[in-house]
Amino acid sequence: MENNSAIAQAHPNIAFIKYWGNTDSTLRIPANGSISMNLASLHTTTRVTKAPHLENDQLILNGEEKTGKELKRVQLFLDQIRKRYHKVEYLKIKSENNFPISTGIASSASAFAALASAAAMVYNLKLSEPELSSLARLGSGSACRSIPSGFCEWKAGQGHNESYAFSFAPKDHWNLWDCIAVIENKAKKVSSTSGHSFAQSSPLQNTRIADTPRRLEICKTAIIKKDFGKLANIIELDSNLMHAVMMTCDPPVMYWQPGSISIMRKVREMRQSGINAAFTLDAGANVHIICPEDSHRKVIETLKKLSGIQEIITSPVGGGTKNL
Ligand code: DP6
Repeated sequence: MENNSAIAQAHPNIAFIKYWGNTDSTLRIPANGSISMNLASLHTTTRVTKAPHLENDQLILNGEEKTGKELKRVQLFLDQIRKRYHKVEYLKIKSENNFPISTGIASSASAFAALASAAAMVYNLKLSEPELSSLARLGSGSACRSIPSGFCEWKAGQGHNESYAFSFAPKDHWNLWDCIAVIENKAKKVSSTSGHSFAQSSPLQNTRIADTPRRLEICKTAIIKKDFGKLANIIELDSNLMHAVMMTCDPPVMYWQPGSISIMRKVREMRQSGINAAFTLDAGANVHIICPEDSHRKVIETLKKLSGIQEIITSPVGGGTKNL
């Protein structure tokens, strides 16, 4: 029996090995595999309701009705679902985040994971976890990694059904934290979606892609063995490689701000002084500092002493997307 409405909740994820560039931008088939962990303290909660009286889907985001680009992206995503599964009804979507959106804290990941899951339920699609992960990927690539729980790998794959994420370690495997130093809470100027489309114009992108299987292996092994030293080196290398590609694209994109660089330096200093901490930055200026439970208080204390940080958001490892 089909329900008239459904609610799902998803966490964003922070990538340790980054997705940057697509081989198929419509299907969001990535140029390389990636690894991430879900963030328990941050979430998007989305309710979808069938709306037979509406002439198209309707989006209410954090209490505000959206009409522009955001609505269009959601409509295109739902059109793909309806086409694949022969559904017709438009949906009313009400979505709430408990964290700032469009700042390089992957709001599109939790947004499309929650929407995919709620839409699958309201349309009664009965999907397996890999099928749901592939579906979420059509809305935002990184959303496929928010469907499974804990530490996830997204294998690039060749086509829609092959390109999905799966969990390789549960959330309680390793008590890592992400301490996010927010230095900018405005919407970023270049969205990830347009950034992906320039990636191939960097002379460094092919080298980054060719070396990805090696980095994926090191990162996965470091997580499985809980080897923080190895994890720290590989995630910082991977973040720097992605930002080097971004900075050398045509047109070039520089997401780092002076404050991002000061924090990256501070993180290196912390590590030299024996505090386990490592940085990674997504498509934004904010710095994610990854650390084990026993050093996260020291990391927060150190960050609090720095100037230019507007907010520090902290989160342990989170579970997968859930229907409520
Ligand atoms: C830098 O998944 O946001 O955060 O597929 O266009 O929505 P779209 O892009 P998105 O890209 C994420 C890029 C990244 C790295 C990562 O999360 O792997």
